[in-house]
Amino acid sequence: MKLINCKWQQLILSLGCLLLILACNSFYPSTNQDAKFLKVATDPTFIPFEIQTASGKLEGFDIDLMNAIAQIAGFRVKFENLPFDGMISTLQAKTVDAAINGITITAERLKTIAFSRPYFKAGLAIAVRQDNHNIKDFNTLQGKKIAVQIGSTGADFAKTIPNARISTFNSGPEFFQDLLNGNVDAVVSDAFATLYAIKNGKLKGIKVVADLLTQEYYGIATPKDSPYLNTINKAIATLLSNGTYKQIYQKWFNAEPLQLPES
Ligand code: ARG
Repeated sequence: MKLINCKWQQLILSLGCLLLILACNSFYPSTNQDAKFLKVATDPTFIPFEIQTASGKLEGFDIDLMNAIAQIAGFRVKFENLPFDGMISTLQAKTVDAAINGITITAERLKTIAFSRPYFKAGLAIAVRQDNHNIKDFNTLQGKKIAVQIGSTGADFAKTIPNARISTFNSGPEFFQDLLNGNVDAVVSDAFATLYAIKNGKLKGIKVVADLLTQEYYGIATPKDSPYLNTINKAIATLLSNGTYKQIYQKWFNAEPLQLPES
């Protein structure tokens, strides 16, 4: 009789454990080993939004944000390196589930892909060599040699500058090198990335002039009709209201986050 009792006890105990494990998994979906992997494209040359360390690890504001979103939403992220220029067409082809890469939400891009709610307030700025005193704003860019990143909002903006001679590059480090070499007079690119590099001593001899040329917002890009967009948006809202967004912002920019619109 005692032996039977003991068996029952063991059975009840193991059933209890099983239930506990099941319950924990549904409360903390991010620890669920079966959680879906989302393929997220990024180009780790856009510092400090995405950085690849010497050991190959991905870091940055966008990386922290995407991982925090995944934790709330209950999926896991598999980052895939992709050149910025190929990001939109890859989303259209649906070979990745999303892309995070300091991608500006624009009307043109919204024709072919979808975006999450804005997660970062940004804008374009002009960068010149420290000793340049004649380029100050849009007007003084006219007729100048300007470097931009292929497929970026900076490249679109540069097309509107009368008589500008435009050189296009694949990534930030390249166009800044051309500016330092004197091959171009100015770079038009995302202000925050440039200011971050200058502040951290990575762009010696370069300064940012004038105010922001544009006001832009970054969004997480997905294919149109993505089944994940709603979940991503909800997770962003949670991160904004529970202080996590602020923590990540302060970690990378050492400043208070700027106000974001809902859409
Ligand atoms: N925000 C700009 C755009 O969407 C430039 C982004 C550059 N990003 C990058 N990963 N290089 O066009």
